This record gives sequence, C-alpha cells and structure tokens, in this order.
Amino acid sequence: MAVKIMTVVGARPQFIKAAVVSHVLESIEGVGEEIVHTGQHYDANMSQTFFDELDIPEPKVNLGVSGGSHGQMTARMLEALESEMVARRPDAVLLYGDTNSTLAAALAAAKLHIPIVHVEAGARTHSATNPEEINRICTDHVATKLLACTKDNLENLQKENLGARAEFSGDPMYDAFVHYSSAAQQPALVSILDGEAVELPAEFYYVTCHREENAGTEEALGGLLDALCALDAPAVYPVHPRNRAAVRQRVEGGGDFSNVLFVEPVGYLESVYLVNHAKQVVTDSGGLQREAFYAGVKCTTVLDFEVWPETMVDGRNILAKPSRESILAAMSVPQSVDEGYQPFGDGKAAERIASCVVELAERQQL
Ligand code: UD1
Ligand code: UDP
Repeated sequence: MAVKIMTVVGARPQFIKAAVVSHVLESIEGVGEEIVHTGQHYDANMSQTFFDELDIPEPKVNLGVSGGSHGQMTARMLEALESEMVARRPDAVLLYGDTNSTLAAALAAAKLHIPIVHVEAGARTHSATNPEEINRICTDHVATKLLACTKDNLENLQKENLGARAEFSGDPMYDAFVHYSSAAQQPALVSILDGEAVELPAEFYYVTCHREENAGTEEALGGLLDALCALDAPAVYPVHPRNRAAVRQRVEGGGDFSNVLFVEPVGYLESVYLVNHAKQVVTDSGGLQREAFYAGVKCTTVLDFEVWPETMVDGRNILAKPSRESILAAMSVPQSVDEGYQPFGDGKAAERIASCVVELAERQQL
C-alpha cells in the first residue's frame, strides 16, 4: 500500500522549504504527499506566487486560518488540522520551521499519535519573548524525528535530551538557494505607496523587516528607516503585509525617504536575484540572513538575539539594534568570506528529509 505523507505549510518560508522536498517525494514510487495549507499567509504575493514559481503541488485544502492573536490563530488551526488528519489518516506528518502553523500541526498530530518529522529542529534563540522560540521548543519536544539544519542545532537538541530522536539533515533553504540561483530573475518592482513601477537601481541594498520584535514599535521602524536614508545607495525594501500600514503612515507623515524603495513583496526567484546582486542585506528574517550567507553577501540582522550563530563569523552577519547608529555601525564592519566554510550542509538536505519521512511512514504501516 502506498504511504501517505501530510505536509502542513502556512507561511512564505515554509513554501520554499517544502518545494525542494516535495519534488523529491514526487519522484519516489509508492509515496503520496498531501499538502495542507493552513492559510496563515494568504496574499497572492505571499503564497500563490511561490506555488506557481516553484511548481509546488497544489494544496489538497486551504484551511483559511489567518490573523488574530497567537492563541486565536493557533487554536483555530489546531481544530481544523485535527479534523483534516482524522479524515485523511496520514502515515506521517512533515513540518517545517517555527510558525504558528508548525505548532498547531505538531499538537494535532501528536495527540492523534501520528509520527511527526520536524525540519529545522534545534534552532534556538534563547529568547523567552521570541514567539517562534516557543513554537520551536514545543514542536521539537512532541516530534518523532528531529532534523537539524546545522551541527550547532543538533547540539542544542542533545542538550535538551532530544539527541536520540535527532539527526543532521542540512538546510533545505540552502538546497533551494543552490537549485534556484540559476533561475533567479530580476524583479519587476511595484511601489506600495502609489502602485507605480519602480526601476531597480544598478547598486542597492536589500532590506526586509517583519518580525514581531521590530514590527511592534514605531521606534524600531523609525530607527531602521533613519539608517536606510543615510546609505550611499538606495535600499530596496519589499514590505511584509504586517508592516504595510506602519510604513505608509510614517512616509505620509513627512520627511525625505527617497533613498528607500518601498515595494510589494517579490517572488522567491526575484528575492534570490536581489540577494545575489545586493551590496549588503539588512534584515530580521531567519531565511534572508542565511541566504545572504550562502551568497557571500554581508548581512546586518536587526534583532537582539542570534538566530543562526553559524553565520555570525568574520563580520559576515552582525546583530544591530533598530537604531541608525547601531545599524550603520554593523554595516561598516568589513567581512571576510571563507568559501570552504559551509555549515548548512551539502545541498542534499531535501533527499535526507524525504527518506526520513518515508521511512517513518512505512514503519507506521507495519
Ligand atoms: C509569520 C511567522 C514568522 C515568520 C513569518 C514569515 C509566526 C508566529 N510567525 O510571521 O516566524 O518569520 O511568518 O514571513 O507564525 N498578513 C497579510 N497577508 C498575508 C500574510 C499576513 O495581510 O499574506 C497579515 C496578517 O493578517 C497579520 C500580519 O500580517 O495581521 C502578520 O501575519 P502572521 O501570519 O500573524 O505573522 P507573520 O508576521 O507573517
Ligand atoms: N522572500 C521573498 N520575497 C520577499 C522577501 C523575502 O521571496 O519579498 C523570501 C526570502 O528570500 C527567504 C524567505 O522569503 O527565502 C524568508 O521568509 P520570511 O522573511 O518571510 O520569513 P523568515 O525567514 O523570517 O521565517
């Protein structure tokens, strides 16, 4: 009998990770993957674009759960996912990262005794107030198999006595970056302020900022924009929907923001192009700071805590506070790139992830 794997995704970075693994699963005979989309990200440029560009199999269902408080969103997802799992009876559930979609799916599957593979296990910020840290820890503690992107993440799991269930897979984001870099394409940028086309400058900085820690306060956005306005080339800033209203309000409130190109989110192939061609990256995204590292482009991470300490070497990725001085100081530190240092694996994480989940699903059928 064919094994059935349920992959649960909901947010932009999960579509990218799932893309590379889904393509491997499709190539294995006797394996059926059903993608369930929680609906957490729903704008076309935050969701459908990724399915189209990366040729991800269409989700069997979209649960349409988004917005609200953490508790509301997670609870609504938990209820809907439990029903899907009861109806679809998967042999194993495949989960990525640390979003509310990940946590809700982990709780639903664990209570139904369905084996869970958690990809990107063991990432820790050691910040008690970081909402994703809670999602990561809870998911790791109920999952059956824990796949770590780096050796450092594997050690974190061992320290939490989860070593027996854990192994190193490498980072599927790295696989995606390696695989799709040759298909990267220059984005057609569209202003979020007036809907007009924006020309990509020859030299630019690539900026994203959306985490709760930064999107929550006016000072944080103000500090970031002050820094961007002081740069020697324009900043291309695709604005996450979470920040849209705050950015508009700030710009409409007056001041010279001409050095910042506030644009709609771009697709993944376009984002890879921007990373590869940027002078530097400034971000609070866990994915983008890794992509800057893969590309050898210097990164400044506007957060209080390290998400990927492996990248914080030789000036390559430096933490900054959301203030003009701190961001500019971090950006002015030169980096040196050791091409031989690659903590994120060999670009074959997707194959290891697929084998792991298929093996678990087959065991469940015995
Ligand atoms: C979520 C993840 C975060 C991840 C990010 C990736 C959690 C706790 N956080 O944060 O770890 O870095 O995704 O991008 O799961 N919204 C839209 N349109 C969309 C998507 C969101 O308008 O397509 C709005 C929502 O309605 C909400 C806000 O943006 O009001 C924030 O969205 P939410 O999914 O709660 O969190 P993210 O900031 O996207
Ligand atoms: N990304 C994208 N379009 C954008 C901004 C980012 O495709 O406009 C990609 C980026 O290249 C990376 C991923 O989205 O692969 C990171 O997702 P995000 O920053 O939303 O989440 P996080 O990594 O913080 O969880």
